[in-house]
Amino acid sequence: MFFERHEGGERAVLVHPECVDDQEREDPGEFQELVRSANVEQAAFVVVPGAKITPRYFVGVGKLEEIRQHVIATGADVVLFNHALSPSQERNLEAELKCRVVDRTGLILDIFAQRARTHEGKLQVELAQLEHVSTRLVRGWTHLERQKGGVGLRGPGETQLETDRRLLRVRIKSIKSRLEKVKKQRDQTRRARKRADIPLVSLVGYTNAGKSTLFNIITVSAVYAADQLFATLDPTLRRLQISDLGPVILADTVGFIRHLPHKLVQAFRATLEESANADLLLHVIDCADPERMDNIIQVQEVLQEIEAHELPRLDIYNKVDMLAGVKPRIDRDENGRPIRVWISAKNGDGLELVQQAVAEILGEDIVHEFLPVPHEKGRLRSRLYQMGVVQGEDFNEEGIPVLEVRMPRQALEKIFLQEGATLPWELPDPEPWMNE
Ligand code: GTP
Repeated sequence: MFFERHEGGERAVLVHPECVDDQEREDPGEFQELVRSANVEQAAFVVVPGAKITPRYFVGVGKLEEIRQHVIATGADVVLFNHALSPSQERNLEAELKCRVVDRTGLILDIFAQRARTHEGKLQVELAQLEHVSTRLVRGWTHLERQKGGVGLRGPGETQLETDRRLLRVRIKSIKSRLEKVKKQRDQTRRARKRADIPLVSLVGYTNAGKSTLFNIITVSAVYAADQLFATLDPTLRRLQISDLGPVILADTVGFIRHLPHKLVQAFRATLEESANADLLLHVIDCADPERMDNIIQVQEVLQEIEAHELPRLDIYNKVDMLAGVKPRIDRDENGRPIRVWISAKNGDGLELVQQAVAEILGEDIVHEFLPVPHEKGRLRSRLYQMGVVQGEDFNEEGIPVLEVRMPRQALEKIFLQEGATLPWELPDPEPWMNE
């Protein structure tokens, strides 16, 4: 246990280099989001024009002076760079600025450390932190006064930062062997789940899209079946009962971040470990975010990196409450398969549509029928439209509207039964789920 958790209240000077290279360019808004996620308060924001980058301090001496003035004026505890710094740049900057300097990798690691919940995720994050720190311990931290934890120094472990490299190596070795053990256990758990044949549905998405909000509200709204194995072991896994389908396990994950530094992919992957084995990914998207298209591409790239890009996927367009005139609904492809659900996780609008779409994708028994829906069955008609299953509408010889419907048989039978409408085929004996 190496790190001691800092008791909040940290203030930072943010330094945002405007890189000329498109590949390396980071978004200043996302930087501020990351800082917020790390529970650090912004004391000042300094932009560094691209041409001024230098090997010694990363920034030119003029900028360095500007940053120093901000540190003095605001009494900031730390300077955060929205770019990778070499160990020597970090040390030179700390010596000059007389305060801690954390680069983008250190900042992201800090967020992972605060979010990692599974045992394996914690170990992977601690390993990545130790490896990141060990390259920066050439002369120890003697150029700074001894400090407690704080951004970049937090970890699942958390005792006083130990600067001895030999101890670091021992610790890294022991974490690696523990990781091996955890991996074996995880494989056993996964086999147990496969045996029980419970589908795994993983929430993925860009940071701030609303995954945790959806996870929390859906576990309240759907029947939450406490499950010894999954519910108690890990707070990011829940077993739910979805009507028309049965039990599923829902997994929450850490948010995706643009330009994930390569050496963090392992740690991130571990926090996403469950997603790579999911039966269905729910990709949560903030549909009110002007950068949403970019975010979607970023998530797809990372999914590719963790080899989860070919899994069945359903897009959840969240935060419809922020778009005027948009109501919860399901969008479908030309085969009637749900591809997108519009919801508001915050208000709980459209949650039943998410469950419906999940049941359809995992259920599979889809019927394609032309069904008479008499005028007096207005509620049935509007429910079918809201579910996005109506592909066309006409009238039969008697003037009764006929809806062309494509949806799972079970859900169709259930909704007709609930609305007291008749189907052209005989309904099976009522099953318990029909009364839900
Ligand atoms: P990370 O943990 O960073 O990956 O974020 P997340 O995707 O889990 O997002 P989270 O659930 O923490 O929500 C982020 C913010 O969006 C919070 O302030 C939520 O209150 C807000 N939010 C979530 N869902 C909705 C929604 O449907 N409408 C609106 N208006 N806000 C929402």
